[in-house]
Formats: sequence, structure tokens, C-alpha cells
Amino acid sequence: MKTRTIVAGNWKMHTDATEAGNLMEALVGWSAADQGDVQMIVAPPYPFLAAAVEQVKKAADGPSTIIIAAQNCHQEESGAFTGEVSVPMLRSMGVGACIVGHSERREYYGETDEVVGRKVSLLLKHGLQPIYCCGERREEREEGRYRDVVSTQIHTALGALSPEEVAKVVVAYEPVWAIGTGLTATPEQAQEVHAFIRAELQALSGGMAAGIPILYGGSCKPENAEGIFAESDINGGLIGGAALVAEKFIELMRIAQRIKTAA
Ligand code: PGA
Repeated sequence: MKTRTIVAGNWKMHTDATEAGNLMEALVGWSAADQGDVQMIVAPPYPFLAAAVEQVKKAADGPSTIIIAAQNCHQEESGAFTGEVSVPMLRSMGVGACIVGHSERREYYGETDEVVGRKVSLLLKHGLQPIYCCGERREEREEGRYRDVVSTQIHTALGALSPEEVAKVVVAYEPVWAIGTGLTATPEQAQEVHAFIRAELQALSGGMAAGIPILYGGSCKPENAEGIFAESDINGGLIGGAALVAEKFIELMRIAQRIKTAA
């Protein structure tokens, strides 16, 4: 089975309405003509999701295949949760995917793997693609505990799902020490953890782990993506900073196309 290759952009709390519109326009224009087999996913901030979905629908050169993702969602379907955004809301506006468990959500908003697991389950119930993030902090790597940490995260968040559900998840391995720091895991370091994650997913997915895309995230940019994407268990990237510049993000798509098509 050929695993899907995905390049996903997480804009975080960046851009304003005009910048978001311009960035989407550049990506839509490129992807309609050129996207090939690599799936582009773009996660703008909540207020710009509706416009992004419309831009993708109205792509001038025929329908673009970009999937628009949210950066987070609530774990309940609806209710008195002021300021929160639900999965049914996202679905109703044409959003196709959602990042959950990003380390910034874990660190600044106290998200636990129990809560993240409920988000994954709700996303699957409503037909959205969950992009589940995991990864160790700097001290956990230095102490050699990174495998245990990642294993606990995955088992806690995904352990209650059925094997069929687990097989539908996209996983992003994002070592916290590499996010936004300019420090990148070496291709070997990343591959080691990706292979480990795939082995952990094998039992949880009833033997379907080979088909689960596992993306690398953490200061991934055109200058270092070639080596990272060339690793066999790395099926693309979750990109922060470099996703805010259309040329860089498109270059990352091109690198993924070249390397994964040749593989
Ligand atoms: P970065 O962010 O590429 O800016 O390190 C990655 C992420 O947080 O998803």
C-alpha cells in the first residue's frame, strides 16, 4: 500500500484577513495546476477559514484539491462553551481536517491526551481528518525518555478508538524542542521516532499502520526538507513558519512530490 504524502501548513496566530486571502490565492493558483499526488492541507486561523474554503471551491483552473483544516476544535459537539468552536460547525462550513494536540495547545492551554483523544474521536465521527500531534520536550529527549513519552501520548489519545478509526488518523511527530526554534531533528533522529510510532500504531490499527501518514514537524523548511522527506517512515511535513511564505510552502510541496514520486 502506498501511504499518502501530505504537506500541511499551520499558520498559527499569524496573518490578517488580507494576508490570509493573498496567501491562499497563491496556494490555490499553484495547486490547481501542479499539486500532483501530494496532498496539500492548509490550516488558517478560525476567522479566515470560511474565505479559504470559498477560495478553494472557486479555483480558477478547476477545483483545487487543497484541504482546509482548523488548528483546534472543542471536544464536545455543542454547549455552553463561550469562545469555543465545535466540530459540527467546522464540518458545516466545508472544513475537511483539524490539527489536534499541538504542543502549543498542550503547553499554554493545558490540553491532555485524554481531551485530545475525544477530539480525534469526534472529528472521525463527523468525517473530518484528524491530524494528531505528539512529540517530546527537550529534557525528555536529553534524558532518553522520548520513546516512552511518545508511546504514552499515542496510547492515551488513540487507545480508545477502534482499529478502523486509528487507521484513519494522520499523525504528526513534532519534537517540542524543534518547533519554531530553528533546531531540526536530523533525518535519522526523526526516522527513528517515526518508525517507532508506526510500530506502536500497528497494534492499535489492527495491522494497518503502513497506510497511516506520519508527518514530521519542527523547523522544517526547503533547506532541510529533502533529507527529512527521503526517510521511509516520513510521509511529509507539518509546517509552521515556512508555511507563511507561499514560495517556501510551494517549494516544500515540490520537494515532497519529487522525493515521494521517485520512491
Ligand atoms: P515550525 O512549526 O515549522 O515553525 O517549527 C511547526 C509546528 O508547530 O507545526
